[in-house]
Amino acid sequence: MIRRVSLLFISIWLLGCSNRSIRETGLVTERAMVVSAHPLASAVGTEILKRGGNAVDAAVAVQFALAVVYPDAGNIGGGGFLVLRQKDGSTAALDYREKAPAAAHRDMYLDEKGEVIKELSLKGHLAAGVPGTVDGMVVAHQKYGSMPWAELVQPAVQLAAKGFPLTKKEAKKLNEERKDFLKYNTRRPEFILKNRWKEGDTIRMKSLALVLTQIRDRGRAGFYEGLVADSIVAEMKRGGGLITHQDLAAYHSVWRKPIVANVGEYRVISMPPPSSGGIALVQLLTISADYPLGEWEYKTAKTTHLMIEAERRVYADRAVHLGDPDFYKVPVEGLLDTAYIKRQMVGFSPGRATDSDEVSAGTPAPAESPNTTHYSIVDSQGNAVSVTTTLNSSFGAKVFVAGAGFLLNNEMDDFSVKPGAPNSYRLVGGEANAIAPGKRMLSSMTPTILEKNGKLYMVVGSMGGSTIITTVYQIILNVIAHGMPMQGAVNAGRFHHQWRPDWVLSEWGALGFGTGIRLWLMGHKIAPKVSGGIGRAAGILVRPDGRLEGGADPRGDDASAGF
Ligand code: DON
Repeated sequence: MIRRVSLLFISIWLLGCSNRSIRETGLVTERAMVVSAHPLASAVGTEILKRGGNAVDAAVAVQFALAVVYPDAGNIGGGGFLVLRQKDGSTAALDYREKAPAAAHRDMYLDEKGEVIKELSLKGHLAAGVPGTVDGMVVAHQKYGSMPWAELVQPAVQLAAKGFPLTKKEAKKLNEERKDFLKYNTRRPEFILKNRWKEGDTIRMKSLALVLTQIRDRGRAGFYEGLVADSIVAEMKRGGGLITHQDLAAYHSVWRKPIVANVGEYRVISMPPPSSGGIALVQLLTISADYPLGEWEYKTAKTTHLMIEAERRVYADRAVHLGDPDFYKVPVEGLLDTAYIKRQMVGFSPGRATDSDEVSAGTPAPAESPNTTHYSIVDSQGNAVSVTTTLNSSFGAKVFVAGAGFLLNNEMDDFSVKPGAPNSYRLVGGEANAIAPGKRMLSSMTPTILEKNGKLYMVVGSMGGSTIITTVYQIILNVIAHGMPMQGAVNAGRFHHQWRPDWVLSEWGALGFGTGIRLWLMGHKIAPKVSGGIGRAAGILVRPDGRLEGGADPRGDDASAGF
């Protein structure tokens, strides 16, 4: 009882106000736009678009620029997903997710008693999966690029070599990581040469510039072979990691069939497994389409309760049915079947929170066959690219490849290291997402493109681990059900439920005082998200007059740019 009352007080304190405008309109441009986590990366992408490059050209340039100016999530030592819609309406999805090294095995993070060894899958050399980013960019460019490869990598080479000024937020984050950088690196990385970073300091990355030069001049071979590959393998040997030359040579990204589903007058195009994002998003939007959320209005208890109950059920499915489709038969069709999705809402009561113990994954028809960052791009032809890329946690495994100046991911923590044991996002899983050599770990990344009446309508995605899916879901609803502009929809406060743990995580002011109380009375357990916010999104909306509106997230240094 005392716990519930104190929870209520915390909740009231947190639910009190919200200072971001949901009616704010973002940058509006006539023809083309890039929205990314860093103004310099958005500027690099816009410059490529101005020079006649297409959306994929710009995506490649932005990916490499982010690897320099936004090292906590931008990367060459991680992976990601790219969803594309061309001006003729054709779609594609590229999976450049990291893979478990060949020497990885199911119990590699457990001690002799079978208990999870704390942080082993999260920090240090053993946490790293085989990076996919460079191969992903090469493969996307080979198929869709129009400008010479070297011209797309060059801006990143320049940023790394000449240096760039640190933003306040970046300086703070680098200072916070100092201890971990010292603890987990075998050689002192460039990032800690200075004692304390402050806003406006110029940061130069000489060894990263050399690596990017290799990639610029040799493409895939500039990373997976030669000097850079040697440095990665040497780093692994020094730090007790698993990645070998064979793992690097064997890494290949995969074109996958995107998740494409009609929900009302919209068509959702998103990422298939090994991301859970596309399927979960379609499930959430399909459930929501059955209720008049516009009429019920934004931020009311009725609307919020329905959304939370849908999230609870969709994440229960995620925990059981989703994993790497190359290793586990994911019942994609069954999970996307409208009748199945609606059945999952059985037990929903408009006035009472369901206990997560009463909710379990459904039984879809079986399969017949077998710190992250998001950027959104639309080029002047109307091609659209939606990319989410990651090292997993902020600065990944905290391990730099010595002499090469880039960070390695800690994506191995996205596997289920033991059935039912929560990962760093408190997500649970089982067989579908168990570790196996060469397998890709399940993701929540949800790079998405929306069509309305057959035309490009929105490009959107977010960072935020398990909260990515619910962030993208809420932003889409904010626009299509509540009529917000793109910027307002991204500004709006967010909340999140993921089945287990059974609580509603809420940003400051996201629920509102009255709604917070009503939800609490219905039996929802509300937990404040005290620092950092939920997700960090980037969206582009095509307005009725054909102009583009950007939604850059005020939770970070994000910026829209275009012309
Ligand atoms: O793939 C995933 O779902 C996670 N590795 C994403 C990580 C992320 O969004 C980090 N940001 N908080």
